[in-house]
Amino acid sequence: MSDLTVELTAPNGVKYTQPTGLFINNEWVASSKGNEITSINPTDESEIASVHAAEPEDVDKAVEAARAAFKGEWGDMASSDRGDLMFKLSALIEKNKEVLATIETWDNGKPYSVALNEDLAEVAGCIKYYGGWADKIHGQVIDTTPAKLAYTIREPVGVCGQIIPWNYPLAMAAWKLGPAIACGNTVVLKSAEQTPLSILFFANLVKEAGFPPGVINILNGHGRVAGAAMAQHPGIDKIAFTGSTATGREIMKMASVTMKNITLETGGKSPLLVFNDADLDQAVKWSHVGIMSNMGQICTATSRILVQEDIYDKFIEAFKKQVTETSKVGDPFSDDTFQGPQVTKAQYERVLGYIDTGKSEGATLAMGGEAYKNVGEGKGFFVSPTVFTHVKDSMRIFREEVFGPFVVIVSFKDEEEALSLANDTTYGLGSAVFTQDITKAHRVARKIEAGMVWINSSQDSDYRIPFGGVKQSGIGRELGEAGLEAYTNKKAVHVNLGTWL
Ligand code: NAI
Ligand code: MG
Repeated sequence: MSDLTVELTAPNGVKYTQPTGLFINNEWVASSKGNEITSINPTDESEIASVHAAEPEDVDKAVEAARAAFKGEWGDMASSDRGDLMFKLSALIEKNKEVLATIETWDNGKPYSVALNEDLAEVAGCIKYYGGWADKIHGQVIDTTPAKLAYTIREPVGVCGQIIPWNYPLAMAAWKLGPAIACGNTVVLKSAEQTPLSILFFANLVKEAGFPPGVINILNGHGRVAGAAMAQHPGIDKIAFTGSTATGREIMKMASVTMKNITLETGGKSPLLVFNDADLDQAVKWSHVGIMSNMGQICTATSRILVQEDIYDKFIEAFKKQVTETSKVGDPFSDDTFQGPQVTKAQYERVLGYIDTGKSEGATLAMGGEAYKNVGEGKGFFVSPTVFTHVKDSMRIFREEVFGPFVVIVSFKDEEEALSLANDTTYGLGSAVFTQDITKAHRVARKIEAGMVWINSSQDSDYRIPFGGVKQSGIGRELGEAGLEAYTNKKAVHVNLGTWL
């Protein structure tokens, strides 16, 4: 349908055809009420395009398509053939990575070099990695007595609803689609209303790769409308979600009505511990990357830096120097930009709000602390990289997720106090420890309440390694072999070879 595309030219000169409809059954369709979501360029606040927003009726259609695919050709397909389709999709992502990265940068505001070299490499790599798993997912034979045994079948869960966030739109889609498809499920995926564009271009590649209709359905839509319809849908067997802890909690409640299998990856306030004996230069560089990359919009961002008191002042000076020299704020399409705009006005205002909170709570504003207006004509959602020191554990800026280029630096006396501060949080996603004492490093790694620990590093993430949180940072794991668990059920088939009654 010609009215479900628009011809666009991105700020970097890339021209492409942007789909604007809902992708159901490998076809582009209009939303049932014609409601739209308008995507905004966060760099200059201009409108990029409007796309269709799914209503509950549209979710019904997508679920129906996914169910039919699950019961049809897809359900009968040999696992190696599923893998082949995923390899084809991965190759198409690789081939189209410049366009995909362009859309991602335009819509989200992340630096183009990061979108291209990190996000798109991860998207293609993740789909390929899980394509490799497709024909290596099998059950066990379990002997009980000489006359009895059981074997297990790892069945797909069914129709999976996947709700993704805006900070890594395509990467979060890949993390969820990869294991779901490898295990033989079908999917209805909803992207975030703040970044609706790249996933629609991706949808065309799904069709081009040769996936049967209905296997992967992609919708844009508002969380409280389309997202909520998915979470409650009786035809959806599983919900996978990445986003805020508050929304995760809502989804858990809604999904409980039909007792859906769920995986949730939610918020964080991840600690990074720097001990006296750390390589200070490395600790400073990694801790800068750990909070300031992707505009601080990372669920695992190490947003609380805890530094041993003897080196506290020295660390602060070196960290400020690193921010000044490295965190160049600017147009995300410029090669030398490290930090683009926050994704939306709402996120920008949220970060500025936390700056006011930090000031009123009596923390020391060591640098930044304001909107940054020196890009282009002064528009856009830019925030100066912000550092608060002398922060107390009772302060909101120590406890709450800010999701911006905003860090608190706190001092500790000894290992015991470091651990107590690190674990004094309702979250438990990432964590980092800097020390040259290997015994201490591993001891601390075991005592930190988190799903992931980086020793002398921050933000390492790899599709081969499980990712997820404890406490209120989530339920379940994505990525790696562990990521397959959430997308299969183990059916036990009991075999009686001779216990005759
Ligand atoms: P959100 O959690 O509300 O949105 C994430 C996704 O959930 C979007 O696709 C949205 O449409 C959907 N959603 C929203 N309400 C829903 C509902 N009632 N039912 C079903 N789906 C729903 O996050 P939001 O408002 O965009 O950002 C707020 C804060 O959340 C951020 O400041 C940040 O702290 C955190 N966040 C964390 C992320 C992470 O990677 N863990 C990613 C995005 C946001
Ligand atoms: Mg946008």
